[in-house]
Amino acid sequence: MSINYSERIPNNVDLANDRTLQRALEHWQPRFLDWWKEMGPRDSAAADVYLRTAIGVDAEGWASYGAVKMPDYRWGIFLAEPVADRTIGFGDHFGEPVWQQVPGELRSQFRRIIVTQGDTEPASVEQQQRLGLTCPSLYDLRNLFQVNVEEGRHLWAMVYLLHAHFGRDGREEAEELLCRHSGDVDKPRILGTFNEPISDWLSFFMFTYFTDRDGKFQLKSLAESGFDPLARTCRFMLTEEAHHMFVGETGIGRVVKRTLEVMKEIGSDDPARVRAQGAVDLPTIQRYMNFWFTSSLDLFGSEVSSNAASSFANGVKGRPDETQYEDHICGDASYELETPQGRETVSLRNAMNEVMRGSYIKDCELGMKRWNMAIQRAGHDFKLTLPSARFRRSIGAWVNVPTDPSGQAVSREEYERRMPEWIPSESDRAFVHSLMQRVIEPGKMAGWIAPPDRGINNLPVDYEYVKLN
Ligand SMILES: [Fe+2]
Ligand SMILES: [Fe+2]
Repeated sequence: MSINYSERIPNNVDLANDRTLQRALEHWQPRFLDWWKEMGPRDSAAADVYLRTAIGVDAEGWASYGAVKMPDYRWGIFLAEPVADRTIGFGDHFGEPVWQQVPGELRSQFRRIIVTQGDTEPASVEQQQRLGLTCPSLYDLRNLFQVNVEEGRHLWAMVYLLHAHFGRDGREEAEELLCRHSGDVDKPRILGTFNEPISDWLSFFMFTYFTDRDGKFQLKSLAESGFDPLARTCRFMLTEEAHHMFVGETGIGRVVKRTLEVMKEIGSDDPARVRAQGAVDLPTIQRYMNFWFTSSLDLFGSEVSSNAASSFANGVKGRPDETQYEDHICGDASYELETPQGRETVSLRNAMNEVMRGSYIKDCELGMKRWNMAIQRAGHDFKLTLPSARFRRSIGAWVNVPTDPSGQAVSREEYERRMPEWIPSESDRAFVHSLMQRVIEPGKMAGWIAPPDRGINNLPVDYEYVKLN
């Protein structure tokens, strides 16, 4: 099979003249398409979807809009423009020129990090596979599909690095990325959150708000990497990732808005009465947040980690926005941690996961403020809050330490008994599922969500973003 490379696979890595890369892709690309057919969005192959496609890295090229059938989407390979004379910005190699090839002694460390990032991309497509069948509007359906094709492209981005820089091992890892599946008993995805089912749209918005935001911080720290092709790849991915978090933030905002409208109509905040009107009561929204936020916190790893220390020391992975710090070496700096045993002082390099988790939590708070403002303006004293980072953790110092969402220690018995008040219970999930009815008339919204403020790319909200055919 021959592929017209620049046509089919938009890229800025000179694919047309790279025989080795072509050969690797000729093998992998048909398998990717099989995977997409089997694990990608259900019943979507014939639909014309108004999507943006990256065909270049400049302001015009990165978002080219038009109606596309998803199996024909042009998944491309892009690295952000190189920075002239870039040097390593942190760790023991601080100030040395960045690497264009992987240093031999760091090969397995880089491979593991690229595979772990790469694994999350197809995982989320698998998690979201059935959501299209219950979309609240064509606008939302289009956004779901946009996120899906871009996660597909992010997989391509990581596969490119594996093919171009890791030889045979890299090709094998690229195959494996299509063999593990989200939630699979025998071959699950690597990270826990990416094996959690996303079976309703409230979960989807929570996932794009909280879990894609973890992605943002991982990409930001890899964008600092001393391995320049990885840094440039991640820098470009961040431009796309921003849209995924927009979907989450505006999605949750629109659910809250609709709930407030219903509360006003019925003059009550009684969850049962709000539900009877077909909206999601605020305490249920809070429980969904508790679930997805705590699950996403685990993705940053243990508070104290020698792996994180060596990634930083070796120039593999920096801190998000490394330039905001003064000390980029952190050779003898220390960090104060709260552990179940009390305060502990550890070396800053060992605490890099915790530093990153801290930046992430701050970023999560911005949306909370906006939603709470809307709730306050509507005259209610209910406040959505992020649970404590000690609550419901499955990784790190707080594993097996039962606390309530505010981080206060409680007995194991209370912890288990009250969990259904804190994260979605069976009946919460059943209720949210009961709201998930497909709405596909242009401009119409399901009753549990307010319309968006504006459409995509200056088009009206009632534009037919997806022609289902
Ligand atoms: Fe992604
Ligand atoms: Fe994403």
